[in-house]
Amino acid sequence: MTTPQKLDFDRFFSEVSKRRRPCAIRQSVATLAKSSPTIISFGPGMPNPSTFPFESIDVKIKNGSTVKIEGEELAKALQYSKSGGIEELKEWLQKIQKRYHEPPLMNKHSEVEFDLYVSVGSQDGLAQTLDMLLSPGDNILIDDPVFSGTLGFLKPLPIHLIPVETDEFGMKACRLKEIMQTWNIEQESKLPKVIYTIPNCSNPTGATASTERKKEIYKIAQEYDLVIVEDDPYYFLQYGDDIASSYQALDTDGRVLRSDSMSKVLSAGIRLGWVSGAKPFIQKLILNQEVTTQHNSTLIQMIVLKLLEQWKFVGFQNHLTDIKKFYKSQRDAIISSANKWLTGLAEWNVPEGGMFLWLKLFGIDDTKELVQRGIIEKEIVMIPGSAFNVEDNTKSSFCRLSFSLISPENIEEGIQRLSNLVREELHNNNK
Ligand SMILES: Cc1ncc(COP(=O)(O)O)c(C=O)c1O
Repeated sequence: MTTPQKLDFDRFFSEVSKRRRPCAIRQSVATLAKSSPTIISFGPGMPNPSTFPFESIDVKIKNGSTVKIEGEELAKALQYSKSGGIEELKEWLQKIQKRYHEPPLMNKHSEVEFDLYVSVGSQDGLAQTLDMLLSPGDNILIDDPVFSGTLGFLKPLPIHLIPVETDEFGMKACRLKEIMQTWNIEQESKLPKVIYTIPNCSNPTGATASTERKKEIYKIAQEYDLVIVEDDPYYFLQYGDDIASSYQALDTDGRVLRSDSMSKVLSAGIRLGWVSGAKPFIQKLILNQEVTTQHNSTLIQMIVLKLLEQWKFVGFQNHLTDIKKFYKSQRDAIISSANKWLTGLAEWNVPEGGMFLWLKLFGIDDTKELVQRGIIEKEIVMIPGSAFNVEDNTKSSFCRLSFSLISPENIEEGIQRLSNLVREELHNNNK
């Protein structure tokens, strides 16, 4: 473990987030309301839950049990709740972080306290996190290629995106080091403060970073005083049992902000994620949430809480085992089809988790037009690699194939069609 370095948290806050302050009235009303059972409070501007039309909510679980919400619990679930998340759910999520990451910040000797808050899916948590960290003119170091949702959020901001090359282990530490070592403050302005990376089963590349790689990157982050935003929605979709440590597991300083998600575990539509890390960051994020989404749906939080309470850890773990088994068999199907139909036409790394195959097509400079032709001529849909490039108007000989929703038969048929498409393209190019 590294020697902890002291962080000046204020240095990382954007101009706007520096100006975010707790709402004094809200705080004093909340404290007063709790101070005595005989108090008559004209304070809170909440609707009366007796006017809501819901009597009770039953959610049937596939294992035959039911999550039932009624009475006072229902009144609570239908009401506004505390920004940051309902306490009992936060406790559960803390236990999950402890179990899977053992964050050094949770150690009682840590100088920096650990905290987390419940976001409206990890996309929201990430957007709020990046918003908290970035001011106009800032530079952010980012995996290249990278999740298009992150690009969609970052690109319109008045900031600079600094692409950091990736390989089958994600962000390349040597490239990151080179960028920081050769940074020219006069020409390139402010030194970057933030790294954004997808460490596991990356979208789009499927790459997973080893513990070794993460240690190297963490060391560089310490050397140059950088915060690492660890976007890890595929963490629970790593098929094997022997998985690498997360950045959070290495974080002695409080410089990692980790984003988790239930989207790939319980449901994407429930929109439940959480961001965890050093308390000063998380408290600022909660202030931000107070004035934006306010909180994740209390009802959804309650359903997830009650499900976790019913399942206990063992049920959660069993559910994860089932999901991993499903995605692994999908991965095996696409790899077997690729071996059969694409050998000699393309290359790929076998993903160790997640739902993406990242194919490099030989002899094709840019896959954009090919992907268009694939839709029209062969009725196959893929995403061209250039959609994930950090820099605009750049080419890519890659394409992303998602194998989450397709039956093994259709995977085989689709890959065969792709093989024909590529063969025809190469034949036409050679004419
Ligand atoms: C890398 C990455 N980050 C974040 C998200 C957003 O996930 P969520 O549904 O939790 O908002 C996705 C979704 O596909 C993703 O691939």
